[in-house]
Amino acid sequence: MVIGLLFLTSIPTVTGTSFAVSEQRKSNQRKEDARRMVKFNIEAVCTGDTDDDRDVNGRRVVVRNDKVYLDMVDPTKREIPSFTALAFYIEYPELDETKHLDRGLGLPTYVSANPPLLNWIYADKDTHELMYGNRTQSVEHFVGPWDWTEDEKTILLEEKDAFYAVEEEEGQWALYYDRDGDELARVLEEQEMLDNAFVPVSLVRKIAEEPPAPPSQSQGQGQGQAGGSAGK
Ligand SMILES: *[C@@H]1O[C@H](CO)[C@@H](O)[C@H](O)[C@H]1NC(C)=O
Repeated sequence: MVIGLLFLTSIPTVTGTSFAVSEQRKSNQRKEDARRMVKFNIEAVCTGDTDDDRDVNGRRVVVRNDKVYLDMVDPTKREIPSFTALAFYIEYPELDETKHLDRGLGLPTYVSANPPLLNWIYADKDTHELMYGNRTQSVEHFVGPWDWTEDEKTILLEEKDAFYAVEEEEGQWALYYDRDGDELARVLEEQEMLDNAFVPVSLVRKIAEEPPAPPSQSQGQGQGQAGGSAGK
């Protein structure tokens, strides 16, 4: 009798508790997702003291022609027109064939503002250069997991802060991922670029002040603004 009573009364409690726990978990997950989806630009930080380090330090991550480069902060000072990367973290949508890889968070970036177009940043599986593309283009490459350091400032790929800027052409610094931990020796040799300048960089999140303005609204930050006269 006593056991029966305990059994009956305990059921609702246990169910209620696990329901509450899973609701709490969901709520935590939503908060985590929201934090991960905060949009940011990306700054290159080079701590070395060569001319190349100083040249690359402080540049912005930009996208153009399927590749990821470091260029001037001011878009009008870029030799080749490029879009400033505006990125965030979200689960990479694996295909049925790649589900088992479970690569976790991807790093999508806007690649144009009007129309707003998102692509995945990835490291090419052969050349290890950083590129961007849709899922079809990216899925066979290193698409993640992307993460941040504990202070949430520095971007990691596969848990590593292992990026290099390589000067592919005069003044054109492309980003590479040192997946092999050999300072890109193998992949640069294969691409006959061992004589090119290259410097290690950290990719640091700069939280974007404003989301990209929808095309219908004209905000102060819009492209084509003369600028310079705004009081603040
Ligand atoms: C992905 O991009 C390629 C190249 O731009 C394009 O041909 C293809 O249609 C795109 N796939 C999807 C699903 O949008």
